[in-house]
Amino acid sequence: MYEKGKTPFKIKVVEPIKWNTREERQKIMEEAHFCQAYIPAEKIPINLSTDSGVTAMSQEQWAGMMLGDESYFGCKNWFNLEKSVQDFTGYKYVLPTHQGRAAENIVCTTLIKKGDTVLANAHYGSTEGHARRLGANPVNLYTVEALRPELSVDFKGNIDIDKLKKAIKEIGSKDISFLNMVLENNFTAGQPVSMANLREASRIAHENGIKVVIDSARVPENAYIIKEKEPGYKDKSIREICHEIFSYGDLMHMSAKKSGLVNIGGLIATNDKDLYDKMQDLLLMFEGFVTYGGLAGRDLEALAIGINEGLEYDYLAYRVGQVEYFGELLRDRGVPIYEPPGGHAIYVDASRVYPHIPREEFVAQALVVQTYIESGVMGGESPSSLGFSRTDPKTGKLTPCPFELVRFCIPRRVYTDSQIEYAADGIKAAMDKGKSVKGLRFKWRPKSEFSGIFFYQLERLP
Ligand code: F0G
Repeated sequence: MYEKGKTPFKIKVVEPIKWNTREERQKIMEEAHFCQAYIPAEKIPINLSTDSGVTAMSQEQWAGMMLGDESYFGCKNWFNLEKSVQDFTGYKYVLPTHQGRAAENIVCTTLIKKGDTVLANAHYGSTEGHARRLGANPVNLYTVEALRPELSVDFKGNIDIDKLKKAIKEIGSKDISFLNMVLENNFTAGQPVSMANLREASRIAHENGIKVVIDSARVPENAYIIKEKEPGYKDKSIREICHEIFSYGDLMHMSAKKSGLVNIGGLIATNDKDLYDKMQDLLLMFEGFVTYGGLAGRDLEALAIGINEGLEYDYLAYRVGQVEYFGELLRDRGVPIYEPPGGHAIYVDASRVYPHIPREEFVAQALVVQTYIESGVMGGESPSSLGFSRTDPKTGKLTPCPFELVRFCIPRRVYTDSQIEYAADGIKAAMDKGKSVKGLRFKWRPKSEFSGIFFYQLERLP
């Protein structure tokens, strides 16, 4: 259980925050056309829009940075990183990349053929983007429970096993590129996947000759929740749980900017030599030599250390505990959150915060905007209709996003509990504005739906 005040570190270096007034923030939002991509980060006092690349590094990591060996071939930091990844995953072959989507580029280009389907518990946006780029159809197999934000049951990040069987039968295994299991499942409110579900999904995929890929951006948090909640795992170590997770996959890729506790970096690892050889070729073309993968030696060292720190039990208890605490604060304030909290963010159910704003008027973004104006706290609509409804390239039919959520992420080792309390008050203040908050409509949007995740210009409805 998280005990406030039992944070397993103290602060040595501080980064100043510039506060601004409500009037200033109102103006900043209007000038940015209600789109965060146009707001300089300096104007955001408490930034909960992502947990990616925004980690505070430890003294060991900063000391490690000074040991960066910037040799082109075989720098010593690479061997440290290779060992950390092997110990974390149990996989033998490791490829470094500059971030997660660079790893996905290599994995997807290797495994996807045009016209294929890629199945998942729910693809992250960049994996979905790569699948579409390669002419494949990314499909999300949510469970029924996952689509009900108010329902508090464990492991809502699971894949629906019946839907998986049905999809394989209907599509045929030769036209399925791979099964993508995302742990935690970012697009389903950061929910964890249970070991039982992963085991069964992997068994079914392998029985049908389909490869299993584990998107591992937040595996350590997922492993911690398995240890806390899934029967049979209480006495297993986090590392043992991670090894079991990876034993069900053919390869893992990872945005190390999350649970790797670094500001930049990505990874691929596998035991499959044939796959490794194919991916190595692409790595050499896209990322650089295989012992640095688009990163500096000092970055490799920070990651080699960060992976190990990210697997420490006390750290994870603090990490997941702070997210749970944030959830509790919001519940106490009557804010409807996606239940139960996962391991990296609280997702607020915007449709229940502002029931008077329909999804076509971008209710989730209305909440993002209002929270920022009231308090200087920034979340992100993720996922919601604004950035994540999708047009079928063949039929032209629009599939609306199944959620209207605002994600308030907690960066790792960055904000104090009192700042998290302030954030909860800020969200509540936005909710209290009630019917005075109006919906939004497009003034401009890019042609590409992928760019539309980040860029748009909106205006207030009268
Ligand atoms: N997979 C998952 C599950 C992710 O959450 C992300 C990134 C990626 C892959 C891609 O990694 O950013 O290093 O290229 N998620 C960030 C977020 C951006 O805010 O959730 P990347």
